[in-house]
Amino acid sequence: MSLFSEKLIAWQKSHGRNDLPWQVKDPYVRWLSEVMLQQTQVTTVLGYFDRFIKRFPTVEALALAHEDEVMQHWAGLGYYSRARNLHRCAQTIVDQYQGQFPCTREELESLPGIGRSTAAAIAAFAFDARETILDGNVKRVLTRYLAIEGPVNQVSVSKLLWEKAQALVPETQMTAYTQGLMDLGALVCTRTPKCDLCPVASHCQAREQGRQLELPTPNPKKNRPQHTRTFLLLWQDDRIWLEKRLQKGIWQGLFSLPEVDGELDEELAENEAQRMGFEVRNAKLLAPYTHDFSHYRLFMNPVAINIKKAPMSDENHLFIEASNLDRVGLPAPILAIVSKFFSV
Ligand code: ADE
Repeated sequence: MSLFSEKLIAWQKSHGRNDLPWQVKDPYVRWLSEVMLQQTQVTTVLGYFDRFIKRFPTVEALALAHEDEVMQHWAGLGYYSRARNLHRCAQTIVDQYQGQFPCTREELESLPGIGRSTAAAIAAFAFDARETILDGNVKRVLTRYLAIEGPVNQVSVSKLLWEKAQALVPETQMTAYTQGLMDLGALVCTRTPKCDLCPVASHCQAREQGRQLELPTPNPKKNRPQHTRTFLLLWQDDRIWLEKRLQKGIWQGLFSLPEVDGELDEELAENEAQRMGFEVRNAKLLAPYTHDFSHYRLFMNPVAINIKKAPMSDENHLFIEASNLDRVGLPAPILAIVSKFFSV
């Protein structure tokens, strides 16, 4: 066994996280939690994981659910393609694998929404497979430990890291090892590392060279495209109008505010509301809000429109009390805009 894995396993057992609710062998639980944790921190995931597992306790329950309900249990977590892929993946497991998750990294990786690192985590945790994970945190650990130069999203650097990571995998104790990699990256080898707490500091090449803060080499900045859209916050007393987004897109299946392209002023927003069938009292621009998606930046221009009369609600349109908003799934930036409006 490499010195790295030996030290890491011992450290994980005494100093790592060992009380997380998904630390079980069940591949369904491991898969669900790994997908939730892909772009989201542990503290945020805990509550979502708990509600999700209660409502969908098995892969069969998830496969049978309506997609909108899955989306609404995901609402607020972001990166909604994860939830759509999760649902498709559950259906594939039920239809093509008799409800049993495959146990190899390769087979897991062929399923919707499971990349190589997530496949390796599930295979290692649920089936003790000797496969390495390599997420952003682990890339930071290894670029430092081995003093590997170059942006980690560059293909040649990534390829080298996968090779080095796989070479460090121990013969046994894959659960403690894999969790140890995650824990080291999350708790110790952070952007500003706490080297005095690190179990492998004495063999870390970056530390030996005093270059912990230079590595990993930053990835080149990407220029995100920008979009501006106007969000209509149609309200009367303590009620607000929401519509389910049926069209294809990031928030499909979630309730949201009606929105139109561009930056409308009060008058144009009122016209839009009238066109939708509302009788309008007055309109007022609210503070703008910026939200970064992975592929673009959204400038949100919210306009509060006080209405005299709303059209009839139906299953895709709600005229809901602000105090009941937690009953529907809203995207996080929409919830932020609505909560701010009703709290002042
Ligand atoms: N991040 C990704 N997977 C994780 C896990 N299983 N435990 C803690 N943090 C994680």
